[in-house]
Amino acid sequence: MPVQNQVRARPDSYHEELRADVRAGLTATPKTLPPKYFYDERGSLLFDEITRLPEYYPTRAETSILHQHAAEIAELSRCESLVELGSGTSTKTGLLLRALLERGTLREFIPLDVDSAVLTDAAETLAAQYPGLWLAPVVGDFEHDLHAVPPGGRRMIAFLGSTIGNLEPSARAGLLGEVASTLGAGDTFLLGTDLVKDVARLLRAYDDAAGVTAEFNRNVLCVVNRELGADFKPDRFDHVALWDPGNEWIEMRLRAVGEQLVTIRDLDLSVRFAAGEELRTEISAKFRRDGLRAELAAAGLETVRFWTDRDGDFGLTLARLAPARRRS
Ligand SMILES: C[S@@+](CC[C@H](N)C(=O)[O-])C[C@H]1O[C@@H](n2cnc3c(N)ncnc32)[C@H](O)[C@@H]1O
Repeated sequence: MPVQNQVRARPDSYHEELRADVRAGLTATPKTLPPKYFYDERGSLLFDEITRLPEYYPTRAETSILHQHAAEIAELSRCESLVELGSGTSTKTGLLLRALLERGTLREFIPLDVDSAVLTDAAETLAAQYPGLWLAPVVGDFEHDLHAVPPGGRRMIAFLGSTIGNLEPSARAGLLGEVASTLGAGDTFLLGTDLVKDVARLLRAYDDAAGVTAEFNRNVLCVVNRELGADFKPDRFDHVALWDPGNEWIEMRLRAVGEQLVTIRDLDLSVRFAAGEELRTEISAKFRRDGLRAELAAAGLETVRFWTDRDGDFGLTLARLAPARRRS
């Protein structure tokens, strides 16, 4: 079977959005930058390193769920086409790919990620591991580019790693609605979500002793420097991770060490940071089983199964269109 593993270059819309997002975020109060700009080649490598840190339990927990239940997921979904949103290295996805290939249904895998570098590496690795599987990587934004995913047969959309937690509730509702609108009657949605737990453990996962998460956090400033000719001095920003109990999410911030004036040349913009001022770079929402079920239901999705790891740290939900949506 032919393999199409060529990764397209980033679409022009990436730069237009980056410009608009950086201008809006750095002129807002408080200042913010969207987390998707962490992920260039270096950011993806740093995230991969994070997944192996002793403090970062989510990847190990989700992997253990997939180890235990991949065959059951394959049986329930019987998909011919697997689409993965925010796929990164797709390492864990290998467990699903193997189970689906053993089940004998899978024909194609479409990983979608905003970072073309990680997608290129993943496509090369997967092509070697699964010769004969049709690979069609898409460089894109899962919030805007679901329509760029070519139609396939019976489909499963996977969204692992609790990346959905990086979206605020209204954006999550928008994305879940988009997912639901692309699913047909026999299709499924597999969603990985980190669960609410002991705050000290959560904070350690986002502020590791080796400082890898801090470097990952500062990488967004390196991306803005390179892509927009800005002059952020990343080492003059401290990494901050805190728990917001009202929203039940972790926030990552960068705190200015001393007063700073930053120029973003390509935007013709200068931005002042007061000493100690914080720039929010990521939220990572933590979920409860009932809330998750309700969010899925609000988007027209019905929970088929919900699995957790042995310690109840992480949840994996298999969902499909709610009965009313399947008939329409
Ligand atoms: C937290 S990592 C998870 C990676 C992998 N799915 C896992 O479970 O380990 C988030 C991934 O989503 C990608 N990503 C972040 N925002 C994105 C967006 N808006 N559209 C597409 N990909 C995005 C990143 O490049 C990164 O590979």
